[in-house]
Amino acid sequence: MSASSAIALRTPLCDLLGCDVPVLLAGMGGVSRWELAAAVAEAGGYAMLGMVREDPGLIEAEVRALQTATRRRFAVNVIPAATDPALLDRQIGLCLDLGVTDFTFFWDVMPEVVRRVKRHGCLVLHQVGTPDAARLAQDAGADVLIAQGIEAGGHVHGRIGTLALVEEIAARSSLPVVASGGIATGAGLAAALALGAQGVQLGTAFLATTESFAHDYHKQRVVAAAAGDTVLTDVYVLNWPAHAAVRVIANSVTEGLGFATLGHDPEKLPRQVIAHEAARPIYRYSTDSPLRITTGDLEAMALFSGQGVSAITDVVPAGVRLGRIIAEAEACLARLAGTPSASTAQTA
Ligand SMILES: Cc1cc2nc3c(=O)[nH]c(=O)nc-3n(C[C@H](O)[C@H](O)[C@H](O)COP(=O)(O)O)c2cc1C
Repeated sequence: MSASSAIALRTPLCDLLGCDVPVLLAGMGGVSRWELAAAVAEAGGYAMLGMVREDPGLIEAEVRALQTATRRRFAVNVIPAATDPALLDRQIGLCLDLGVTDFTFFWDVMPEVVRRVKRHGCLVLHQVGTPDAARLAQDAGADVLIAQGIEAGGHVHGRIGTLALVEEIAARSSLPVVASGGIATGAGLAAALALGAQGVQLGTAFLATTESFAHDYHKQRVVAAAAGDTVLTDVYVLNWPAHAAVRVIANSVTEGLGFATLGHDPEKLPRQVIAHEAARPIYRYSTDSPLRITTGDLEAMALFSGQGVSAITDVVPAGVRLGRIIAEAEACLARLAGTPSASTAQTA
């Protein structure tokens, strides 16, 4: 990285999060386990463990493994509104006992949960999908707002595009803003910075990496897919609040719906076991995506992916993916400034 572009890419958010470059690994449930989180953190990014609705035993093992693998700061991601309150209470209590300093929350803002961890001096990043939710999260005490656009893979809370949402939230809020949704390249990072964001959060781009805990089938489907292959649907909704929408790669389940991708009532969806995650049964229409330990009808499961998927054409170590994105962002900023980047200057 050249000195000038390293300075351009380094935003105040990097100091707050203790990372070198403003690229955040999304706390993807099942996928962002300690191996991937450690790889991103050690490569200079900021990592999150995706622990939505996980058993405290798994959370303890993952947090301890990550604490051993890196001395970098990291966050634990949970989703208060989609978690049984008693389990959420145990998850957060355990993380505090383990010395977790940062949390990321998503979906409906639950101010009491934000305040609880703030009372312990923790840093809170809150992912939001609307300007109203951004205001609620800020009022509750969040330190960083992650603006998630409709292009995002996984659960999608709002219906506004990343471009418009980031600019509006960044203009209205005094907090650092991170852009999330459909970003998988250095040009996307540069664009987010131009819109007023101080960094980007990537899900899909890090899912297709060697260290991610996603099943290889899911990684290969991401590699093969283009933006137009993704669809927003609420048919993958078992165990989540009704009408919670997700962006997935179209498959036999979504194609069977025709245009009726939204408006599904979880109570009316049949319960049918189609796979197993170790010994745990996975039901058709559940929000589980295939992991390394999943067996069964993987094609029919939720193959989460954002619209930036066209740019993901190989499975590489997370550090390689991060390095490419940073180099592309440097080249992009240099091009916009009319100066050769370090890499183009060397090859000229
Ligand atoms: C496989 C997968 C699982 C996800 N799980 C979670 C989660 O558990 N918690 C969360 O806050 N966001 C989750 N998300 C959404 C991400 O936080 C983020 O908004 C999204 O990945 C950004 O879009 P992108 O995938 O296009 O980069 C998930 C996304 C994916 C792709």
